[in-house]
Amino acid sequence: MKTITVIPGDGVGPEIMETAMRILEQAVKYAGIVVASEYHAAGGAAIDKYGVPLPEATLQAARQADAILLGAVGGPVWDTVDPALRPEKAILGLRKELGLYANLRPIKIFPALAGLSPLKPERLTNVDIMIVRELNGGIYYGEKCEAKFIDGVEAAWDTERYSTAEVERIVRLALQTAAQRRCKVTSVDKANVLASSRLWRQTADLAATDFKQVELQHLYVDNCAMQLVLNPGQFDVIVTSNLFGDILSDEAAVLAGSIGLMPSASIGDGPGLYEPIHGSAPDIAGQGIANPLGMILSTAMMLRYSLQLPAAADKIEQAVEQVLSAGYRTADLYTPGFTKVTTEQMGKLIAEQLSGD
Ligand code: IPM
Ligand code: MN
Repeated sequence: MKTITVIPGDGVGPEIMETAMRILEQAVKYAGIVVASEYHAAGGAAIDKYGVPLPEATLQAARQADAILLGAVGGPVWDTVDPALRPEKAILGLRKELGLYANLRPIKIFPALAGLSPLKPERLTNVDIMIVRELNGGIYYGEKCEAKFIDGVEAAWDTERYSTAEVERIVRLALQTAAQRRCKVTSVDKANVLASSRLWRQTADLAATDFKQVELQHLYVDNCAMQLVLNPGQFDVIVTSNLFGDILSDEAAVLAGSIGLMPSASIGDGPGLYEPIHGSAPDIAGQGIANPLGMILSTAMMLRYSLQLPAAADKIEQAVEQVLSAGYRTADLYTPGFTKVTTEQMGKLIAEQLSGD
């Protein structure tokens, strides 16, 4: 038996999680495995209930689980809370406490949705990118100072700090990942300006000497942002820091047509954490119209990476592809001529595909 910690979170989190859990139940039933799911609070929901974004009980459960599924956290209601208690602290705390130093964000184009991309279709040929984002260090966790007055001037700061060991482990993971794919790693930094980037680049070069079959290329982050829209087909694996990875993965997600589609896996020392890359979308929460595919595809990644059920993961991914090919679209993907469906209907359609196999 496998145990998973389920954290629906805030905004559209609970709606997409409910849909994804139905799919998961079905997928594991076919695989003949029992998965026990334990629901826990984190983010704004936990602030409201327990006064903290990441209650000890949630963290303990996550530590003991085989994997964690997370919907989304945050929303304008909590924008005014003490910065140390913001909903986002739940995700940052889980990532750090569980030692999840690598965030895998695959960017693939569903052929049925190619027309939705803001890029011309011819620019989308061969787009299949794995973004490997460092997740336990950098400016997200460096020394910081909230706004304060110093000699009459108000200032605030954050620090981008990386150690050789932190860079080495993430770059190695990217090199290993590329060795199973198209054998190319693009390491993204700002080495023309930042000291931390110069260490990053030097460490990446050293790590690559152990992976002769993989080509390592360096790009400045500004150029990478441009290349992602000019010629995204040139990339295989992109490895980069926490902050650059956050920004570039949202940019890359748009290539596929909607950020609502994109899954992610956070892996490392502890149990893996799986969440869509989009946020809690408070503007559409509670309406039942959110796109559950990012959450569903994150569940597939969990089956593949943490529960060792790659066939079940493949089945879910194929079912998603079939439902999109059949013309069903949630509101974010909708264009005239297609069939608009709710979150729940999208879930049902995918479940039907799964049972038809
Ligand atoms: C993401 C999110 C998070 C991040 C936020 C919610 C803390 O934007 O997973 O990309 O910045 O890492
Ligand atoms: Mn982000």
